[in-house]
Parts: sequence; C-alpha cells; structure tokens
Amino acid sequence: MALPDGFSQAVERWLAEAGRGGARGGARQLSTTYRAGGTSEGIDLAAYLVTRLPATYAAVSTVLSEVQRLRPAFAPKSLVDAGSGPGTAAWAASACWSSLEKFELLDNNRDFLTLAQSLALEGGLAGMKGEMGSLLHAGAKADLVIAAYALAEIPLNRMPEAADALWARAQETLVLVEPGTPSGFARIRATRERLLRLGASVIGPCPHENTCPLEGADWCHFSVRLPRSRAHMHAKAATVPFEDEKFAWAAFSRERAAASPPRIIAPPVYTKAALALRLCTEQGIAMRHVPRRDKDAFRSVRHLGWGDTMGSA
Ligand SMILES: C[S@@+](CC[C@H](N)C(=O)[O-])C[C@H]1O[C@@H](n2cnc3c(N)ncnc32)[C@H](O)[C@@H]1O
Repeated sequence: MALPDGFSQAVERWLAEAGRGGARGGARQLSTTYRAGGTSEGIDLAAYLVTRLPATYAAVSTVLSEVQRLRPAFAPKSLVDAGSGPGTAAWAASACWSSLEKFELLDNNRDFLTLAQSLALEGGLAGMKGEMGSLLHAGAKADLVIAAYALAEIPLNRMPEAADALWARAQETLVLVEPGTPSGFARIRATRERLLRLGASVIGPCPHENTCPLEGADWCHFSVRLPRSRAHMHAKAATVPFEDEKFAWAAFSRERAAASPPRIIAPPVYTKAALALRLCTEQGIAMRHVPRRDKDAFRSVRHLGWGDTMGSA
C-alpha cells in the first residue's frame, strides 16, 4: 500500500526542492476546499502530496487489487489516468499490472499535469505521456481507464457526459474511485446506472447488476487504514500515526462479469453470541448472523472484513 519506491523518492525530492513539506495553512485550505465540494484549481500541490496522495493511493491500490482478484486474466497494456493529479492511479496500476506499457496522464489543470509528468520522469514510469485536456471530452482509448477522486470535481449536470466519455475511452475496463461520502457514492451510483444502460458489466463491488438496493441516507463505502508520515502528522496536527481513508468505488467491464458472492458492506460486528455481517446480495441488502456455537461456519467467516466477499480468503 506504500507508494512504489521510484514514486515516493520523486515525491520526496520534489517536496525538498519546493522547500515545503507540510505547511499547515495549505493543508487546512485543501481540506476545506474539498469538503465544500470545491475543485483542485489553485490548491497547494505540496499539501496535496503530503496529506492526500498517500490516502488516495491506498484507496486506488485497494480497489485495483480487488479488480485483479476478480479478473485474474485481465492484463491491460494501456491506461488512461483521467484526472491524474500527481499520477496516483497510473502508479497504483503500474504496481498492479506489469503488463502495462503505456500510461496517459490526463488532467485539465496545468500545474497538476506538470507535477505528474515531472514525478513520472523522475520516478521512472516508462511509457508515460501527459495530456492537457478534459475527461469530459473524447480522446485516446486504453484497455484500462481509471478516474480517481476526479468525478467529485465535475458539475452534477455534466456527470452523464463524464460517464459517457470515460466509458467511450475504456476498451475493456473502467474503474471509478471517489471519496467515501454520501455525495461520492451518489456520483458512483448515478454513473453505474448510466453505464449499465450502455451495456457495461459490473466487476464490483456489487455482486449483481440490479438497481442499487441501498435506500434513503444509506451509502456504500469502504475503508483502508494507512500510516501517517511525520510531515502529514505535522500538517494535519494529527495525534494518531494512522488514518482511515473512506472511499466508494465501482469497476466496469465490456466482458460479461461472472456472478460474484455477497459483499460485506459494513464493519463486521462481534457479539458474545455471533458475528453479524451486513451484506449486499443479488436479492438485496441482508444481515447474516453466524453463531459462535456453529464452529465450522464461524471459522469460515471470522477472518472476513469490511469490503470482502463471502468465501474470499
Ligand atoms: C482530487 S484530485 C485527484 C487526483 C488523483 N486522481 C488522485 O487520486 O490523487 C482531482 C483531479 O482531477 C482533475 N480534474 C478535475 N476536473 C477535470 C476534468 N474535467 N478533466 C480532467 N481532469 C480534471 C483535477 O485537476 C485534479 O488533478
């Protein structure tokens, strides 16, 4: 889950040269901007590298590992990282699929794109090409398209356009990752509905292609824990040496997806008598209580966590 060595060293060098490793003002402004639904325009790039990159990288890596687990035969050669920022998804994908040869970093923010290109060159991401442009427009196609934490910056009335443009670029697989907030999930859900109408098949997290069964204020999201660097602790005035990044995701394929088992969509709850699992299933949302006295059944689920599918190792 840690950044690949080349990327991490390039980031450290860039921060050292910029002379800014964790200014609190930049970090505070960045959090406030993103929380209020603002865009990356004019944000402090050093603050992004210190306080957001490790978490977005961890979330994207978690999702890509799951896509790889569910699609072991998928071996993409080309990638578009749409809304690349510093190139987070491109680096995460390069760590996941050694088959990748071409990486297009697409961003409409000149500062972010220049940063991504310089980190890729410095870190040794071979086959990288930077593209200044909007993910709302048609462009180069690739086996794998990833939009990570980018849909959040698209105006709501342009989300259908974004879904269509990203899907048109994806020759095989499209992966979306968004903040694990109600609005992040709402964007994922709306895009999922639209892509299903366009004939996409859902790789995950949903174990079905029905209308999302969640109702009301409920939202589907997952969590990954990662260590905080010293600079991050300082920038955020943090008191614990780790953070839990909440994210929502969906991955789509042009190939029919095999049926997948129910997925655990909330932290498992242990009681004296049982383990309670909240599941998304083909038949809807369900609670499964596995009694401790049923030793075999309990043993088969006790290692499972939030985000796992039933039966996964
Ligand atoms: C929150 S950052 C995420 C960066 C990176 N994907 C990550 O996960 O760390 C959002 C990125 O999307 C880019 N972006 C926003 N709207 C865009 C658009 N219409 N076309 C291309 N990039 C866009 C921003 O410039 C920014 O680099």
